[in-house]
Amino acid sequence: MKKFLALSLVGMAVVLLAAGKGIDEKLATKGEKLWTEKGCNACHTIGKGKLVGPDLKGVTEKREYKWLIAMIVNPDSMLKYDPIAKDLLKQYGVPMTNQKVSKEEAKAIIEYIKRESQK
Ligand code: HEC
Repeated sequence: MKKFLALSLVGMAVVLLAAGKGIDEKLATKGEKLWTEKGCNACHTIGKGKLVGPDLKGVTEKREYKWLIAMIVNPDSMLKYDPIAKDLLKQYGVPMTNQKVSKEEAKAIIEYIKRESQK
């Protein structure tokens, strides 16, 4: 009985730790795959400096969640109409291409960026 109690405490601690970080590991792993499949890595790093586009480390704290989804799913119209995106385009001089990412896929990629930003 004591052993069982100790084990459940360890289990609870693990769950709490994971929750504290706020990362959905499964989703982040899916996002990691999409990150290369969708070619984000051709223009971005997460913590290794600028490439064609900005280093995305910490971007999930800098921008609203909804804004990030919109930028990833639909960069074309964001670059046309959104003031922040237009400003970035001025700085980087190259328009981010539409990589045909669904909203669900964008959520996974954002989770991956969040996880990588904590490293
Ligand atoms: C052809 C290069 C290119 C590709 C491919 C690309 N991006 Fe971008 N991205 C950019 C550039 C350049 C910017 C800055 C805005 C601009 O100039 O269009 C940007 C901006 C962003 C931003 C906003 C950054 C900030 O500081 O707010 C996010 C988020 C982002 N990209 C995510 C992605 C994701 C996720 C993918 C893959 C699905 C991707 N990008 C693919 C070039 C690219």
